[in-house]
Amino acid sequence: MFRHISGFAAALFLAAICVTGASAATITIACGPTSGPNFEFCKRHADAWAKKTGNTINVFSAPITTTDTLALYRQMFAAQSADIDVMMIDVTSPGTLKDHLVDLKPYAKGAELQHFPSIITNNTVDGRLLGMPWYADAALLYYRKDLLEKYKLNVPKTWDDFAATAKKIQAAERGAGNADFQGFVFQAKAYEGLTCNTLEWFLSFGGGTFVDNTGKITINNPGGIKALNTAASWIGTIAPTGVLNYGEEDARGVFQNGKALFMRNWGYALKLVEAADSPVKGKVGLALLPKGSDASKTASTLGGRELAVSKYSRNIAASADLVMYMTSAEVEKDRAVRGSYIPTRPELFKDKDVLASNPFMANIYAALMDGGARPSTVTAMKYPEVSNTVWIAAHDVLSKKVSAEESLKKAEAKLNQIKRNKW
Ligand code: GLC
Repeated sequence: MFRHISGFAAALFLAAICVTGASAATITIACGPTSGPNFEFCKRHADAWAKKTGNTINVFSAPITTTDTLALYRQMFAAQSADIDVMMIDVTSPGTLKDHLVDLKPYAKGAELQHFPSIITNNTVDGRLLGMPWYADAALLYYRKDLLEKYKLNVPKTWDDFAATAKKIQAAERGAGNADFQGFVFQAKAYEGLTCNTLEWFLSFGGGTFVDNTGKITINNPGGIKALNTAASWIGTIAPTGVLNYGEEDARGVFQNGKALFMRNWGYALKLVEAADSPVKGKVGLALLPKGSDASKTASTLGGRELAVSKYSRNIAASADLVMYMTSAEVEKDRAVRGSYIPTRPELFKDKDVLASNPFMANIYAALMDGGARPSTVTAMKYPEVSNTVWIAAHDVLSKKVSAEESLKKAEAKLNQIKRNKW
């Protein structure tokens, strides 16, 4: 009898496992690197989804830069690996990774209409929605408002004013004993972040987008030459030569330690420089980046990240469900309020909690609407090589290896070679 009952119970137990097993999945999501806030937020929300749905989450820590992360995904996709189901991809990557990502449209069921149409268009390749917008990025000028006040100087509007202000305050602060104080920190390491900075300088001097949206190569032009010469003049004068090896977090480290007047960075840095233990808490102002001249436009590169599902995943439906949750209004709002991540849903720019905790978001809206897109849609699969050409051309000029003229001529030839007949 006992044996009979226990056999029956075991059968029930097994049946229960089978039922749960049929719907419960283990999903691995690649978030940002473990050190950054992106990882914490990503993990918190993915865990919340797991709890809600009875699935299990593994969080994979992706490399720190866009460039290294893309290289890793490409390697994994080449091996058709099912190790990662859901991944954070750059706004420039849908075209490059198009052959390996799932069309999310059937799973979005219209939710995509609640996001900025421009990002949805960016993420739609050959009619397939390859990523759901997760957060947007716009580049901003972070400045020390206490120091501008101390020296009675205004927030600069043009790159010329900007360099003059940085030079003056850097000299005065160094003279006052702050020996390693810097005027400006930004991202000039040879990677995607330098392409973003370079695009801003190019656009602000009317130099275009390296390749225009019809696919024509435009990189070699007088505005571009002016842009690179201007940026090169900062190295070793108002910016340390070390910026040639800085990514976003390196620049933030210096600025947050109170060692720089200006920093170019994305929105995420705000909550960190304003954190309770930040040495510059309460001393930071935010503005749009300077312009080439009074008449020109402010330029900010359009950045951001999408969530995508690998076509090699063994749990595509559950993965897509996770993506829909992670890109929901509720999660985007939490990320905006607590992490200053810029939402991809226009409605959140009117949300009073979002605006109260990020007054700068009101300005960002304009920068986002007017943001400079990198030429990743038109060059698609070739974008990584295009961007690589751009950042090498810029890095060579910033490190004074070659003149801007020579560098852009070389870059133009290289882009022609990459393009061959068409992108
Ligand atoms: C930010 C942007 C991303 C860009 C990267 C460059 O993460 O969101 O679009 O590619 O910076 O470093």
